[in-house]
Amino acid sequence: MEYDDAQRVISEAAVSSFDGSESDRYRTVMQALVKHLHGFAEEVQLTQAEWMAGIEFLTRAGQVSGPRRQEMVLLSDILGLSMLTVAINEPKDPKVTASTVFGPFFVENSPMVGRDGDLAQGAPGEPCFVSGTVSGSEGSPIAGARVEVWGADEDGLYDVQYDSTRIANRGHQYTDVAGTFRFWTVMPVPYPIPTDGPTGELLRAARRTPMRPAHLHFMITAPGYEDLITHIFVDGDPHLGSDAVFGVRPSLIGDYEFNPSGTAPDGSVREKGWFELKFDFVLGEEVDEVG
Ligand code: BEZ
Ligand code: FE
Repeated sequence: MEYDDAQRVISEAAVSSFDGSESDRYRTVMQALVKHLHGFAEEVQLTQAEWMAGIEFLTRAGQVSGPRRQEMVLLSDILGLSMLTVAINEPKDPKVTASTVFGPFFVENSPMVGRDGDLAQGAPGEPCFVSGTVSGSEGSPIAGARVEVWGADEDGLYDVQYDSTRIANRGHQYTDVAGTFRFWTVMPVPYPIPTDGPTGELLRAARRTPMRPAHLHFMITAPGYEDLITHIFVDGDPHLGSDAVFGVRPSLIGDYEFNPSGTAPDGSVREKGWFELKFDFVLGEEVDEVG
């Protein structure tokens, strides 16, 4: 669709209104944003009713957001913007573990879990023993790396989605001198992202699935290395090809092996069986920002 002269004058004026921005970066980002917003409105020939529906939608998304509900993050996630931003900014070294979306269910100050400890803390689900290493891309183990983990229970819910302040199935552990970690959690299951707000309306209108393939969240940090925010997905999950937030990367699909009974790696005897995941993480070295 062609711009007519009046439309072009409006768009050019809106873009150039940022010419005097306080920094070059601010001007670049805002002018590109305005240019693309205007291009979008021109391309679809946005009606007044559609513009108003969009404003009302974003207003409601903001209004339902709060410390325990991050609807704006969810919206960014289902539009693929979160995952695109992750991909743009992650280290480009193929040896470094791939990143994926942070999601809305991380909580600060999780409990520390000792070696072979259970971070489930009563969250229902099949027991799952997780172990592995954290190393740098040159192969050396990283001692004292903080391994932060959070996951949904067998009903597909995170602790913060319950009407209580209970903390369950989240925690952190520091790697030992050999860069290893080991803990118990519950086996992840696929779950729908929250659909009771404006994001759910959007998914239904687009006839899109709200499902995420089963996964466990990790955030691994160590001085001198880039932070790693990622998940380990479950091999064979039927939703791996249709993740509602576009977060799946083949290198992040883990083998959660089922052991029907016997002695688990921590020496405990398990009559009912357990799952086991082994995964080695590689962090990128921090690069000094020049300037
Ligand atoms: C999650 O995996 O916790 C998540 C990520 C994006 C949107 C909703 C949930
Ligand atoms: Fe999740």
